[in-house]
Amino acid sequence: MQDGHGDSAEATLRDRVSKRFSALNRRDVIRAGVFGSAALALPLQRVVSARSTLSGRLASSKLPQPFTIPFAAPPVAQPYRSTGSGDFYKIRMQKINAEIIPGYQTPVYAYGFETPNSPYLGSVPGPTIRAKQGRRITVRYLNNLPPVHETLGYQQWTSVHLHGAASLPQFDGYASDVTRPGQYKDYIYENLQHARTLWYHDHGVHHTAENVYHGLLAMYLLSDADEQSLPLPKGDYDLPIVLGDAMFKSDGQLLFSLADDSGMFGDVITVNGRPWPVLKVKRRKYRFRILNGCVSRSFKYSLDTGDLLTVIGTDAGLMPAPQQVKEIRHGNAERYEVVIDFAKYQPGKRVVLRNSSPKNNENFANTDRIMAFDVVADDFDPSNNSVPDVLSSNNECMDLQPEQATGQLTLRFKRQGGEWTINERTWEDVVRSEFQFVERSVNHGDVEIWTLRNDSGGWTHPAHTHLVDFKILDRNGKPPFAYERGPKDVVYLGENEVVRVLVKFDAGYGRYMIHCHNLVHEDHDMMTQFEVVGPDNRGDDPLGTPCKDQPEADDL
Ligand code: C2O
Ligand code: CU
Ligand code: CU
Repeated sequence: MQDGHGDSAEATLRDRVSKRFSALNRRDVIRAGVFGSAALALPLQRVVSARSTLSGRLASSKLPQPFTIPFAAPPVAQPYRSTGSGDFYKIRMQKINAEIIPGYQTPVYAYGFETPNSPYLGSVPGPTIRAKQGRRITVRYLNNLPPVHETLGYQQWTSVHLHGAASLPQFDGYASDVTRPGQYKDYIYENLQHARTLWYHDHGVHHTAENVYHGLLAMYLLSDADEQSLPLPKGDYDLPIVLGDAMFKSDGQLLFSLADDSGMFGDVITVNGRPWPVLKVKRRKYRFRILNGCVSRSFKYSLDTGDLLTVIGTDAGLMPAPQQVKEIRHGNAERYEVVIDFAKYQPGKRVVLRNSSPKNNENFANTDRIMAFDVVADDFDPSNNSVPDVLSSNNECMDLQPEQATGQLTLRFKRQGGEWTINERTWEDVVRSEFQFVERSVNHGDVEIWTLRNDSGGWTHPAHTHLVDFKILDRNGKPPFAYERGPKDVVYLGENEVVRVLVKFDAGYGRYMIHCHNLVHEDHDMMTQFEVVGPDNRGDDPLGTPCKDQPEADDL
């Protein structure tokens, strides 16, 4: 079989890099006096390294054909212990081998859960944690990764962030609050928020991209009584979809290749860690909780039948009302919950979830599709098979009105002086201030309008605020996309996009990160922080509860 794939990918890459090179030229020309030729030489070096790393890549003929591997959901984590006061989980990070490409062993970093009866069950993505509103979960995360990454050579520290949770600062996975190999830390999650699809992932400073790429990410599903009382699909018909992308070396190892410093883009699309899987579906509705877990890739997906997707939830929970859309542009770390009704299709029909990529992604032969659904005639449970017109009636975040705002902040996400910056600063500035610098200080209970801007072409930035949920007011002065009309914690900033969000700071106190969720940008150092203060400030410090050394105490 002829392998035309590599060539076209190289051509796309060459094209892209030269486009980037001239874009940089244009942009950097005014700074040339300051940076001299160094600023211009940098992209050229990257052209060379990108080509040489791509050449060690596993041939496309060895990759599975799309829709040949069965879909599977990640395992569900079991608590180590449960008491009246909550559930205790033990989750260890370890290097294991996984068969992602049939016939190849790929070393990955896996979160795995342990119970007194099951010593370690690691997977990529990691085990899904199921939480109930009002019931506390304590997770002991143990770092048992190798001290240094074998091929990339960096030190393997970690920090675990539960994305979407209003955790106390010391349990929020503050990037610089690291746990090194041989150490562990207990994180407490109160689960006081409304039902939502969260995820936990690594946040270790400067190596979040590599760590997440190697497998340190997993779902965390929080339910509440209101949500459970709705007749939405449940059980086997409520499925997580963790989108990923990866590239492999000829020996099956993961290839972490920065085509240029705009990101890491793989040629294999994975769903729950499986390349382009196919799911057998019965002739009824399914609820899919879709997370973009990619390091850098964004998607714009739709059904190949042209049928509509019914969006019911966004990052921070159910929308007030369902929205019907043809396609969804889905950036890193965003969650969209979508109901698809397969009742109208005849058994034997294949429906493909395809991807017409947004700008600024590297594309390869099969990155234009994600997964397939094969409709089967099997019997099914007909209960919980509808989408009500009202999904959440008193939604604090979505009920906010712009008139309530008493302050504002503008955050500019920008490439500057060869660095990824927010308001011309980086995480380095926060570190240098001994973690005291804040981009904004608000009082507990304040409502503000924040304007998030990407004033350039050539890059996109999924902007994320920790701790708080927000409501999108407008995008470039126009109403938000229909699928964005729900509570959010990440907003996609496409080229030259300006998004205004309305946010109430009543979820907690302390210092919390704001960053771009393209993890390559985040690591290099597109991250800052804000702070919430108040009269009963509890003084919680993001660096105030350090990790401990193993062996672990017998106190879980
Ligand atoms: Cu997904 Cu700072 O987080
Ligand atoms: Cu987060
Ligand atoms: Cu970015």
